[in-house]
Amino acid sequence: MIDNNIVEEIKSRNDIVDLISSYVSLKRAGSNMLGLCPFHSEKTPSFTVFPARQGYYCFGCGAGGDAITFVRQIENLEYVPALEFLAKRVGITIPADMTRRGDGFDRTRMLNMNKEAARFFRECLFDPEIGAPARAYFEKRALSTATIKHFGLGFSPPGFSALTKHLHDLGYTDAEMTAGFLCGRSKKTGAPFDYFRNRIMFPIIDVSGNVIAFGGRVMDDSTPKYLNSSDTPVFKKSRNLFALNFARTACAEEMVLCEGYMDVIAMHAAGFTNAVATLGTALTPEQARIMSRYTKRVLISYDSDAAGQKAANRAIAILGEVGLDVRVLKIDGAKDPDEFIKKFGADKFRAQLAGSAGKFDYNMNSVLARYDVSTPDGKIKACAELAELIAGIYSSAEREVYIAAASGRLDIPAESIRADIERKIRKRKSEYKKQQSQKIVRQSAGYGDRVNPDYAKNLAAAKAEEAVLGMLLLYPEHREAVRLGKVKLTAEDFFTEFGKRVFGAIAENDQDGTFSPSVLGQYFTPEEEGRITRMQLSRSELSDNGAAVFAESVAALRRERLAGEETGDGVEDLLDIIKEKRNT
Ligand code: UTP
Ligand code: MN
Repeated sequence: MIDNNIVEEIKSRNDIVDLISSYVSLKRAGSNMLGLCPFHSEKTPSFTVFPARQGYYCFGCGAGGDAITFVRQIENLEYVPALEFLAKRVGITIPADMTRRGDGFDRTRMLNMNKEAARFFRECLFDPEIGAPARAYFEKRALSTATIKHFGLGFSPPGFSALTKHLHDLGYTDAEMTAGFLCGRSKKTGAPFDYFRNRIMFPIIDVSGNVIAFGGRVMDDSTPKYLNSSDTPVFKKSRNLFALNFARTACAEEMVLCEGYMDVIAMHAAGFTNAVATLGTALTPEQARIMSRYTKRVLISYDSDAAGQKAANRAIAILGEVGLDVRVLKIDGAKDPDEFIKKFGADKFRAQLAGSAGKFDYNMNSVLARYDVSTPDGKIKACAELAELIAGIYSSAEREVYIAAASGRLDIPAESIRADIERKIRKRKSEYKKQQSQKIVRQSAGYGDRVNPDYAKNLAAAKAEEAVLGMLLLYPEHREAVRLGKVKLTAEDFFTEFGKRVFGAIAENDQDGTFSPSVLGQYFTPEEEGRITRMQLSRSELSDNGAAVFAESVAALRRERLAGEETGDGVEDLLDIIKEKRNT
């Protein structure tokens, strides 16, 4: 548990406008600031920053919270790492014993242990004797000393327990080393041994500069070629990208996604510092979301073999889903970017990057490759598939360009392709409309509410509950009334599980009257914090928040709960809403 005073100190030194401005361009709107929401795509700004209360809320998607919530969301960090990120930003050091995690591992210690391991691997690499074979390997792969140092590469010596011994001497425990994926335990004797042996080592570094994991490659053809850290208390494979710590400042326009560590290193060494790679797994939706916060366009540059192209197809879909513009680089004459740069040089590679085919060209080529378009049957099927692709494109001008291209390739008049596409678009539109109207009804009734699934079960009770919680969060006098028993209120009075939890967190932290909403991040996800922010915003707009209003809100909560219990579920509410909508 982190000391409240430190949390407040970190927050007060990180002005929210200043912080958010480094990610979102904000314009003044009255006493608030307004910008395009970084958490969902929108064309008119609904993302609002409130300097006075040092908070933010998006009226479009419901994201909201304080500086810590913002960093958790935008940098995809857990609560404590987000706090560390903010602390680092203003030069505050969090005492190590305050970062102990629920699983008993101290994050700061785990990160320091990783840093010591990286240092050890580097010292082994540059040791005249021990490191000789690894240095020879790097030389064979044409990696300069500058590049090796830039990426902090190293060498894990052969033998059994060189690193384990070293970390022991520094005071790290077997449990920490095992959890950190640096050592395993002998099945026979239980003795700890180095996990990475006789491999060249790639440290994985997060955007705050912490060493969070390692990849290790053999220097010959033995298998497995790479070993990678599994998830540890300080590392989630699916949420990190290799070299994002360097690429993040060079990728505003475009990021290059490669398959391998060696590809990324070769690209950075050749001046393409916007390259990243996944960590020994296929691209995940989380990684795609992270990428979308740093860049607009991703150029996929996977290996040219069949496996690489298949992986590229999957990556196109995942990246497209988060709204990124996707292009695919087809490498000719080499198996991967690393080999291409070695063989043909950086300038040729730059030309390839510039001429990379857009998503559509790539898709069109792969459709055409699948059918024999010299036969009528093949032509019809290919045309139907291309029409489907083009119908999915928003801009009509862009559609025209592709219609022309498809018409040329298939030798079918543009008008007939266009007619097909228009029919498909009409069909999609009507399906979309139907879905949307269903969605609106469900949403206004609170159905499909992921943050608070109980909300729809009794709308009146849920609304009364939010009012009570909003006032409790905002006003110390109401919290005091509850604490002193002047207003009788317990978690059981709340209607939804979520409401019970919010009340519980407030009560637990207000035993001595010092509650501050800053502590909520330790209990709630950023999505949940968005909802908690909404509760406060809707209350703070009301002019009268006096004791009588509070007491009445509590009474209303009790009344509505009881009424809800009598009628059963919320179907009536849903019907009421639908009726109400028809009448207005
Ligand atoms: P590659 O085999 O293409 O490796 O695997 P590479 O990085 O290009 O290395 P070189 O050029 O052959 O030396 C691509 C990525 O897949 C993961 C690693 O992240 C690697 O960088 N991988 C590969 C593994 O995790 N384990 C393996 O056994 C092989
Ligand atoms: Mn490769």
